[in-house]
Order: sequence, then C-alpha cells, then structure tokens
Amino acid sequence: LAILKKRKAIRVMITGAAGQIGYALAPQVATGAMFGSDQPIILHLLDVEPAKNALEGLRMELVDGAYPLLQGVFTFTDVAAASKDVDVAVMVGGYPRKAGEERKDVMSKNVSIYKSQASALAENASKDVKVVVVANPANTNALILAENAPSIPRENITCLTRLDHNRALGQISERTTTHVSAVKNVIIWGNHSSTQYPDVNHGSVVGKPIRSVVSDDAWLNGEFITTVQQRGAAIIKARGLSSALSAANAVCNHVRDWVRGTPAGTWVSMGVVSDGSYGVQPGLVYSYPVVCSGGKWRVVQGLPIDDASKERMRTTEAELVEERDLALQCLAEKSGAAQ
Ligand code: NAD
Ligand code: LMR
Repeated sequence: LAILKKRKAIRVMITGAAGQIGYALAPQVATGAMFGSDQPIILHLLDVEPAKNALEGLRMELVDGAYPLLQGVFTFTDVAAASKDVDVAVMVGGYPRKAGEERKDVMSKNVSIYKSQASALAENASKDVKVVVVANPANTNALILAENAPSIPRENITCLTRLDHNRALGQISERTTTHVSAVKNVIIWGNHSSTQYPDVNHGSVVGKPIRSVVSDDAWLNGEFITTVQQRGAAIIKARGLSSALSAANAVCNHVRDWVRGTPAGTWVSMGVVSDGSYGVQPGLVYSYPVVCSGGKWRVVQGLPIDDASKERMRTTEAELVEERDLALQCLAEKSGAAQ
C-alpha cells in the first residue's frame, strides 16, 4: 500500500482529542498499534476552544513520552487547519450519552458537528483520506459526513463497530475458556446500538463452529446477544463514563486491518456505506463482515442467513432508517432556526 511503502510519516487526525478516548488513543497510535512498529506518525489533535488547555496538556504528555515513531504533534481548534493533508481521520469529537440514554439521544448535538466538519475534511485532507467515525450515533454521523463530503470516496468513510466485534469475541472466549485469539469470524450486523445483531452462526473456536463448542443455543440466542448489545451501557453504569481504552484499542484494530489487511481466513466487522449487500438499503452505514487487502475492504458475500438472523438484521436496519430520518430532520430544523 502506498502510504506504508513510502515510510513517510502518516498524518493521523483525532477529533475530540482532549476527551477520554483521545487520551487513550493518542499514545496507542504513537506506540505503533495502528500502523506497526516501523511506521512514523504525525498527530493532528483537534478539539473545541474551551478544551484548548487540556489539548495542550495532552500534547505536552505526548512529547514527554519520547515515542520513537512520533515525528510531530500539532493541536488545533479549527477543523480545516487540523484536516490539512491528513491520511487518516478518527472522528471522536462529540458528546457521549449518559446513564439511561440511548446513543441516538445525543443525535441532535452530534450530527450537526458531522455536517459542519465534512466539507473542511473533504477540502483539506489527503485525497485518499480514510475516515472512521467513533462519536455516537456513529453510523448516522458517518452517513451525514458522507452525504456532506461527496468528494471523499464512499468506501473511505466508515464507522466503528469493531468494539462490538471485540466484545463478542471476548464473551465467547470467556464462555469457552479459550484464548480470545482462537475465536474468529463473529459478525456485528447493523447499527452500533442496542439493536445490533451479534451473529455467531459463521464463527469458530479453535477452528470448530462456535455453536458446536458452546452447545447452549439458549445462551447464544439470548444472554450472549443482549450482553454484547448492552455492553456500552454496562460500562457507563460501572465507570460512570463511557468506554475509552477498549474503544481506542478497537479504533487501532479497525484502521490497522483496513490499511494492512485482515489475516487469511479472518473477517472483521466494519460500519460501511451499504451497496445493498444482504438486502440492506443502499446508502445506509451498516456494519458488515469485511475482509481487507491493499487498503480496501470488501463485504464477505454469500453467507447463508437463517430466518431468525434475517429478522434481527432487518430490525437494526429499520432503526438506521429511523435514525437517518431523525438526523435529517434535526439538521433541517437547525438550518431553519439559523435563517
Ligand atoms: P468525551 O466527552 O470525553 O470527549 C469528547 C471530546 O469531543 C470532548 O473533548 C469535546 O470537547 C470534543 N468535541 C465536542 N465537539 C467537538 C467539535 N465540534 N470538534 C472537535 N471536538 C469536539 O467523550 P469520549 O468518552 O471520548 O467519547 C467520544 C464519543 O465517542 C462519544 O460520542 C461516545 O459516545 C463515542 N463512543 C463511541 C464508541 C464506538 O464504539 N463507536 C465507543 C466509545 C465511545
Ligand atoms: C460504547 O459502545 O461503549 C460506546 O458507544 C459508548 C456508549 O454510549 O455505549
């Protein structure tokens, strides 16, 4: 891949960098978790004006980390300046939900950020910029970004569902007392929300089908699914704050596999702009199983889908349609109010 071969520093922008995820993510990127231990990095850290001091504190700590791969750290409060020549944009900027809220409850605050930042990104970033939206509602923010940045290729705009994917691997690993690296090919379908469908029907543990190793369909069809769907809420309840280190780790996994490729025989879950695969409405940002090579992802095609799974896939798709319509309505109301 061009950006790896030239060994020129890769410019990574992190928006919302003064927040919790930013604090966990920046050092992970600096130590090579995103592109490997031989790839130099330049960080562009963006946050809002009131977070300027916290952002400067993060910059000082990164300098004090004396990271061999880190060739520069720049801080910004202007998105156009922050986006200049970036190769990867990790969009974390926004507001997290609180206990008792659904992710779509932060829609009105967050979706307008994605509309307003889209054109700055499109105009200033590298032509082949790879974008991963993390801020919630992640799929719908990515959809709004894609619609407002038509010059960025659709396939370069994704959202994070790798955290859900990793959560599913973790649950199967604990249940089977098998190391997580031996659990493969679970799938997260649909929305990064409580309607997502964590699907084990095509997954394996040490090369054997998950369903034959676990052999407890009631657990796989019930508690396993709800645990993964509700894990974000469980972490908010336990920490009083939403997940941060696991989210940062998932971002690094997502970008690493996208840029460097997925291991042979393994797929991962990514929220991508649907081309209609598996009957999903084209244009929605829907999480699919994907394999990556040469810096491109492709949806794994032809998996047999049973009726119960079809139903769950449709439920999460319907929520994405509802979110998209709600987002468009919020944006229309805001632009109406501004006139
Ligand atoms: P946080 O509140 O600690 O940090 C968010 C930062 O974004 C803050 O510093 C804030 O000032 C900044 N910000 C707000 N508006 C901005 C703008 N217009 N431009 C740039 N920065 C802006 O929150 P956090 O815990 O780091 O979470 C960030 C987001 O990620 C939330 O929406 C959260 O729900 C989401 N999240 C998603 C996943 C996922 O798997 N997709 C996982 C965890 C968290
Ligand atoms: C998560 O999944 O941990 C994040 O999306 C935060 C949340 O609101 O659940």
